[in-house]
Parts: sequence; C-alpha cells; structure tokens
Amino acid sequence: MVRRSVIMGCGHYLPSRVLSNQELAAQVDTSDEWIVERTGIRNRHIAAEGETTSQMAIKAAQNALKQAGLEAQDIDLIIVATATPDYTFPSTATQVQAGLGITHGAAFDVQAVCSGFVYALSTADKFLISGSHQRALVIGAETFSRILDWNDRTTCVLFGDGAGAVIVEAQQGAGQLQDRGVLSTHLRADGRHVDKLYVDGGPSSTATTGHLRMEGREVFRYAVTYLAEIIEEAFTTTGLTADDVDWFVPHQANRRIIEATARKLSIDPAKVVMTVENHGNTSAASIPLALSTAVADGRIKKGQVVLMEAMGGGFTWGSALVRW
Ligand code: UT7
Repeated sequence: MVRRSVIMGCGHYLPSRVLSNQELAAQVDTSDEWIVERTGIRNRHIAAEGETTSQMAIKAAQNALKQAGLEAQDIDLIIVATATPDYTFPSTATQVQAGLGITHGAAFDVQAVCSGFVYALSTADKFLISGSHQRALVIGAETFSRILDWNDRTTCVLFGDGAGAVIVEAQQGAGQLQDRGVLSTHLRADGRHVDKLYVDGGPSSTATTGHLRMEGREVFRYAVTYLAEIIEEAFTTTGLTADDVDWFVPHQANRRIIEATARKLSIDPAKVVMTVENHGNTSAASIPLALSTAVADGRIKKGQVVLMEAMGGGFTWGSALVRW
C-alpha cells in the first residue's frame, strides 16, 4: 500500500465586477476584435475596492470544503499560490487560516506566478505522501488588477482577479495507475528568463509594489515548447498517453497557447477545458477555477484522468496528472 493524495473537492470565487473588452476599448487603444482573436478573452473579473486576495481565497476555500463535505477543522495544511499577497508578510495562507478559524497545522505561500497552482499541488502531494500531513487546502488566488499598468494595452487586457481551491486528502492506494489521486507532478524553472515577465517593484528593490511587465511574444514562443516537454515527461513517467487523458485543464492564459499545446500533444480538442474567455489570465487561480467550473458542470467525474499544466514568470512551469 502507498499513500496517495486524493482530490476531495474544489471550489472557486470570482468578484462580481465584470470588465468587458468593450469597456477596456474605451480606456486604451484596443478592440474587442483584437483581444478575442489574439487571446480568446472576452471578460475579466475585477476585485472590489478593499477586496483582497485572502478574502477571495477564503470564499473559494469555503466552497471547496462544502463540495467535499468537510469542515475547516479537518484541514492541517494550507498552501496558497499567489503573486499578489495581501501583505509582504505574513503569508496569505495564514490570513486564510485565520479566516477559516483554523489554529492547528501549517500554512504557507508558494510563489511561482502562473505556475503557482501546479507548484502548490506538487508541494502538498509531497507533504501528504510523506505522512506528515493528512488533508491539504491548496489555493490559487490573485488580484492582478492591482499590479497592472492600466495604460499599457499589451498587458492590461490580459489579466483578471479570482480564486480557486482544491482539498487533497492522503488515502491508501495500491500504487497503481488505477488509484485515485495525484499520479505524477513535474516542476521546472529556468531563471535565465526572469526579465521576460516580471513586476518592476518589490520590498528589497524599490520598496514599492510595481507593475507587471511582459514581452508577450517571447513568453508565447517558449510556452508551447516548454509545456509540451513537461507533459511528455508526465506521460513517460506514468506510461499514460494523450488518449488516456479524459480532461486537459491547462493554465488559462491564452486560447492560442492552449490550442497549440493540445495540438502538439494530439489531445482531442473536445477534452480541453477552456474558461479563459470568462475571466482572462488569473495566474495561479486559473487552473483551480477551470477545475471547479468543469466539476460543477458535470464534465470532470470521479475516476477520470485529468492533466494540468502551467507556465509563468521566471520562467517556471510544470504539469500534474491526477486520477480524479
Ligand atoms: O500566464 C503566462 C504568461 N503570459 C502568457 O502566456 C502570455 C503570452 N503571450 C501572449 O499571449 C501573446 O503574445 C499576446 C496576447 C500578449 C500578444 O499577442 P501576439 O499575437 O504575440 O501579438 P504581438 O505582441 O506580436 O503584437 C501584435 C500587434 C503589435 O502591433 P505591431 O507592432 O504589429 O504594429 C502590438 O502593438 O498588436 C499590437 N497590440 C495590440 N493591439 C490592440 C498589442 N496589444 C494590443 C492590444 N490591442 N491590446
């Protein structure tokens, strides 16, 4: 028998304010046509004044707990993936812990920008299979609206706010591919690319929060290659193939990147979960948002194979194969 990290439930939260492409076109030199054609995005959600990353994370967590039929007190590990924490410190995870009324266990943040959720899920998996913890709350939550330069049309049209959460529990498995739970995770980073997607501020450099800067075309150029490689690694390690995947739930940054990656790996387009149209790129929140959407609408079912991938600033990238 081996320990497996089984997904027990998921939930998400999107702020009520929806910002459409048409509204953006009234503010910067862009158009609905350009944004849809180049990215697939139609709307993004924007946090209300005073609404923070931890508040959104708590709402997503409460929804995930409800869906899993668990209580906050059942959780002994909280990992929040975010690049937009409420404060420089303490971690957003500790704010979430307090908000949920939990006083035991461990709580910390993971910073891998858009790959944050895959990094956090992989980290939780390692804690759970080691036997040190029993039930983890893994959250991706972001308020990118606060770090965007709203005069820069090359970035401000792409991102949005939101949060998604999953609950992962250590269970006994047979050590086989038929086991429910995380089957493999693969993480990569290559810091030579730090200046292609970054925020131009921070506590030890400028003592300001800064704004997001991106060489979009360069990020795009690397994304499909790196993502296809890290998925191939997952297939090689597990012996699964594209045909075994029931649902492909990629980081939701750009419809063209998602479609090109699926094409390269011969993943049937009907198996791709695409939510980028409704909320833009929500960085670490995008995968759990898409997971939660596809579970709620009945697409993802128990026992199915779900493939996740993401790439983001650093660069960091990763993949996860899970039997739901
Ligand atoms: O989450 C992970 C990190 N982020 C990503 O995955 C994003 C990766 N990159 C991308 O998704 C794409 O590169 C973008 C969507 C950012 C841009 O699409 P693109 O097809 O690579 O366009 P481009 O940057 O090559 O720009 C094409 C043209 C340029 O005009 P010129 O130089 O051809 O005259 C831009 O100035 O489009 C112009 N442009 C815009 N036009 C209208 C750039 N942004 C806009 C805009 N509205 N918002």
